[in-house]
Amino acid sequence: MVSSPALTGLRERFRANRIERFTESVIREMTRLAVRHSAINLAQGFPDFAAPEDLKRAAHEAIDADINQYAITWGAKSLRQAIAQQMRTNHGLDIDPQTEVTVCCGSTESMISTLLAVCNAGDEVVVFEPFYENYGPDAVLSGAKPRFVKLRPPTTPAGEWTFDERELRSAFHSNTKAIIVNTPNNPTGKVFTRAELELIRDLCVEFNVLAITDEIYEHILYDGTQHISIATLDGMRERTITINGMSKTYSVTGWRVGWTVAPPQITNAIRKVHDFLTVGAPAPLQEAGASALALSADYYRKLADGYRARRDRLIPVLEEVGFRCFKPRGAYYVMTDISAFGYPDDVSFAQYLVKEIGVATVPGSSFYNDPRDGARQVRFAFCKRDETLDEAARRLRRLGGVGN
Ligand SMILES: Cc1ncc(COP(=O)(O)O)c(C=O)c1O
Repeated sequence: MVSSPALTGLRERFRANRIERFTESVIREMTRLAVRHSAINLAQGFPDFAAPEDLKRAAHEAIDADINQYAITWGAKSLRQAIAQQMRTNHGLDIDPQTEVTVCCGSTESMISTLLAVCNAGDEVVVFEPFYENYGPDAVLSGAKPRFVKLRPPTTPAGEWTFDERELRSAFHSNTKAIIVNTPNNPTGKVFTRAELELIRDLCVEFNVLAITDEIYEHILYDGTQHISIATLDGMRERTITINGMSKTYSVTGWRVGWTVAPPQITNAIRKVHDFLTVGAPAPLQEAGASALALSADYYRKLADGYRARRDRLIPVLEEVGFRCFKPRGAYYVMTDISAFGYPDDVSFAQYLVKEIGVATVPGSSFYNDPRDGARQVRFAFCKRDETLDEAARRLRRLGGVGN
């Protein structure tokens, strides 16, 4: 037997430079810690309750009908039509499902396929921070440089997360290719207002920049807040890539079905990347997706009401034990300020919470480019059953109202 020579310089030789700047996903790491310590997982944003019965039945039926082979690479016709229909109903946009919709493996793949399709080395992508942790690595993978603009937390209980107009303007340059907008926002729960989106629109038009908008929480809104899709603003239809998916709206994060809606030329580029990256999203689940998108308005109303009730169940407990909560207007997370607990940083506090208190959260630093900016924050996800939230509350009360 020929013995193979020992692999030398493993780390340097077999590790691409592009991943050097990545850390492991903190959110998914917290989920693993939660399992190891039998903690309640309020870290990762996935529901622990059942998906809609109609949707599961549609998936069964699709498999029974032997829809088991590759779908058309850019998405099953039925789902693309349903997406176009929804864009018309919800946003009044006339979308051609043949040329403007691409179904991907989740919004995650939609975002990276988009960035790979539109960015060149040296381009810049503007990202509001705190940001959903994938955006940084996504920009880097596409060769672009992320340029961060701060969202500042509210200073009063009724306040909103805001950004500074001058800071945003100074982030735009001749080499800016795109801005990523996530509304309703993870992790802050911010819902961008029309005035804010118009400001972003004006900069996009002035600097000839694309808006890539992640709207996967569009149906999860509270307190009468309205979601505005930036593609609906004058001048934005032709320069917006709208990303959405089934994960959050239909409580099926493991199905991996998401999509992009973009003008034909951009769609064409996205489809090229998507085809070689993943070929296609799961075929039977795309069929089920088509029926999900046809659910009545009542479904979406109940979805939002359910999350509002969960938000209002968790926040009082957090406040009682010493967290300062930034009340979300949308999505299903609450960012909190942990200053009252006197811990040196968010990571050591989150470790304490998961190991000693039995509740997993996400340290705030994982949402910032500079970890120091999130050192006094942790994020809770409340997309959980009442029993789960109540058990988390019971455990959190062990903190004993330290901050009061
Ligand atoms: C803002 C945002 N975008 C995208 C995703 C991932 O979505 P998908 O499951 O469709 O890939 C998440 C998941 O938490 C998210 O919060």
